[in-house]
Amino acid sequence: MISIKSEREIELMRHAGYINYLTHQEVKKHIKAGVTTKALDKVAYDFITKKGCIPSFLNYEGYPGSICVSINDEVVHGIPGNRIIKDGDIVSVDIGVNYKGYHSDAANTYIVGKVSKDVEDLVKNTEKSLYKGLSVIAAGAKIGDIGAAIEEFAEANNLSVVRELVGHGVGTDIHEDPDVPNFGKTNTGLVLKEGMVIAVEPMLNLGSRYVYLHDDDWTISTDDGLPSAHFEHTVLVTKDGYEILTGDMENGEK
Ligand code: MF3
Ligand code: CO
Repeated sequence: MISIKSEREIELMRHAGYINYLTHQEVKKHIKAGVTTKALDKVAYDFITKKGCIPSFLNYEGYPGSICVSINDEVVHGIPGNRIIKDGDIVSVDIGVNYKGYHSDAANTYIVGKVSKDVEDLVKNTEKSLYKGLSVIAAGAKIGDIGAAIEEFAEANNLSVVRELVGHGVGTDIHEDPDVPNFGKTNTGLVLKEGMVIAVEPMLNLGSRYVYLHDDDWTISTDDGLPSAHFEHTVLVTKDGYEILTGDMENGEK
């Protein structure tokens, strides 16, 4: 079922989104060489709970962390642990925040120290691909328009699109209908309506698109060992466009 959010629900989701944004800012301050991924998890847990919210991912289908931290060839769902971040790593951080039963979902890939030009471009272009995908959103547009915009931009920049994982609706569940693939054809799929909330989350690889699941049953990595980047925002579909719920509200990222 695809839910249309009421004004009251949207207000709650704006707040969940804003706390998500602030948590990213807080975690970002701690990302540097020498820090363990579980230290970042603690920063996020402490911050989210201090703000009167709950980390959406904690215990979600048995997930053991508050956030996901995925390094280099890890695409998504890296479980925080004793791994130490090194200079030259790219670190994808995915955060879910639950405020009064309403969720927000957002991811960012951070560069630590110095990386090659290829890797820098991977990260920059994955972020750009997210905004390409968002740019076509408005009531009346179709889900396929989003994926087509992302895929076209990724291919134009020699990056491949992971297909096994997709964006999704967000609301009283962190993952709701509809699926929002990062590939597809324009003018196909579900028609977007005002009041829908979706998470758009391109995962782009420097090498081939293929991925595998680790023995921990969570972490997903690229088959070829080449790096992957991930950017995600939760957005509200509006009559003329969209509103980013997980952006910098004070500086008007909408
Ligand atoms: N943002 C992640 C996604 O949409 C959510 C991961 S939930 C977890 O795939 F619990 F699996 F970490
Ligand atoms: Co998501």
